[in-house]
Amino acid sequence: MVYYAALKEKQSQMNTVLIGSQWGDEGKGKVIDVLTDKADVVVRYQGGSNAGHTVIAEGKKRVLRLIPSGILHEGKTCIIGNGVVMNPLDLIEEIEAMRASGVEPKGRLFISTRTQMVMLYHRALDKAEEAARAPGKKIGTTGRGIGPAYAAKVSRTGLRCGDMLRDDFTDIVREQVAETNRKLKMLRAERVDAGDQIGVPGCTVKDYQLDADEFARIYAVAKEKLSPYIIDTVPYLHAAKAAGKSILCEGAQGTMLDIDFGTYPFVTSSNPTSGGACIGSGLSPRDIDCVVGVVKAYTTRVGEGPFPTELYNAVDKQDPDGKTMAEVGHEFGAVTKRPRRTGWYDAVIARYAQQVNGIDYWALTKLDVLDTIPKIKICVAYELDGKRIDTIPSSASDLARVKPIYEEMDGWMCETSNVTRLEDLPPKAKAYVDRLVELSGAKLGILSIGPARESTIRVAL
Ligand code: GDP
Ligand code: IMO
Ligand code: MG
Repeated sequence: MVYYAALKEKQSQMNTVLIGSQWGDEGKGKVIDVLTDKADVVVRYQGGSNAGHTVIAEGKKRVLRLIPSGILHEGKTCIIGNGVVMNPLDLIEEIEAMRASGVEPKGRLFISTRTQMVMLYHRALDKAEEAARAPGKKIGTTGRGIGPAYAAKVSRTGLRCGDMLRDDFTDIVREQVAETNRKLKMLRAERVDAGDQIGVPGCTVKDYQLDADEFARIYAVAKEKLSPYIIDTVPYLHAAKAAGKSILCEGAQGTMLDIDFGTYPFVTSSNPTSGGACIGSGLSPRDIDCVVGVVKAYTTRVGEGPFPTELYNAVDKQDPDGKTMAEVGHEFGAVTKRPRRTGWYDAVIARYAQQVNGIDYWALTKLDVLDTIPKIKICVAYELDGKRIDTIPSSASDLARVKPIYEEMDGWMCETSNVTRLEDLPPKAKAYVDRLVELSGAKLGILSIGPARESTIRVAL
């Protein structure tokens, strides 16, 4: 209860981390947009333009990939933290789209000097590596260069946004292209036909080799456009904190895609879990007051890898309830448009997410998508090799073998998207929400019953 006392005391200044609890696409963008009314600064702390965060505000739909989802609130500052891998060309496109839709990011969007850059050759490598993986070994990456950019970071060869401010930036780009061409030659040697797949927009690939002159030109333009946004965000954040401002950290992807805690190797290359918020922003663990876990009322996954409660996908599963989730929930990638796999809510995953993230509150989303399903299942445990388990096996091949143990509840069979108070939910819908919360180890903070800002019941946040 110390936490709640502290929460009360700190009502005016709260630093919150918001994370995805499943395999991404839980509705983080929507919930960040809603919570930004109580924040002053919103920080993206990991991932890159593999993310697609949808915000529907004042009737307009926007999909954010790198810019924090708080940008639609006038006067709030948005930061791209050091833990993000940022493709300058994607960011320029996003800034321009934002400006065209009437929102000016300049003056309140800042990028850390420590943020790593995703270069076009990282995208080329991502695509070539994915193409070279044998069937069954493919990850189904978004092709945005995320893995290669993080690999460059940890092998200490990456370029950071601070490098963009240097006079010799173009020379560094040329050196990097030469190094990448060596890697591409090796990949080509292993799998000749991958050559077709390597094309990335904006650059020429001749004989599987990148053109250094073209790269130098492209990045000179990026430098000019982005330099005004690049600052050292660590002192900025700590000054904001000292001035009593509230900071909201925006996770991308989700717990089960975490490089350490997810279904390795079918994961992304960063730490979406709450610990990543400190590493990726420069805030300390002591600065975090609250962790919000966004969780869908069912489960989705896009890309390859195990999914115990899976019902429906584009390949071999065609369950009608899963199909309803996919169709009513519009389960297609916000950016890649790939169809998402769908399945029942998995409370084993939610409990695990609660533990590894320290979730205080759930933001439960997309309850309305289940409005027409007569019988709804919840996975409460797994069976593995004839034994009941209630934790996530650390190996993806074991997780692929588990059989879900289900509880079944009656569906409510009526519309929920017009409900404005928790107590006005149809009793069977309320019972489902209560059961999810009871099984999943934290309190309910927000219930989302539609994609727009207004379709939100704020229970405790
Ligand atoms: P994110 O990556 O976690 O930000 O999620 P995405 O934006 O990729 O996917 C979530 C999708 O669900 C988007 O199309 C949202 O507009 C939509 N959405 C969010 N919350 C709700 C909800 O409560 N109900 C419905 N029907 N749609 C929602
Ligand atoms: P948001 O932030 C869902 C998945 C990809 C693939 C794996 C690795 O919108 O929730 P990567 O390109 O990161 O190397 O791909 O991770 N993936 C996501 N799935 N939502 C996302 O982001 C994702 N970002 C990556 O499909 O399986
Ligand atoms: Mg998404």
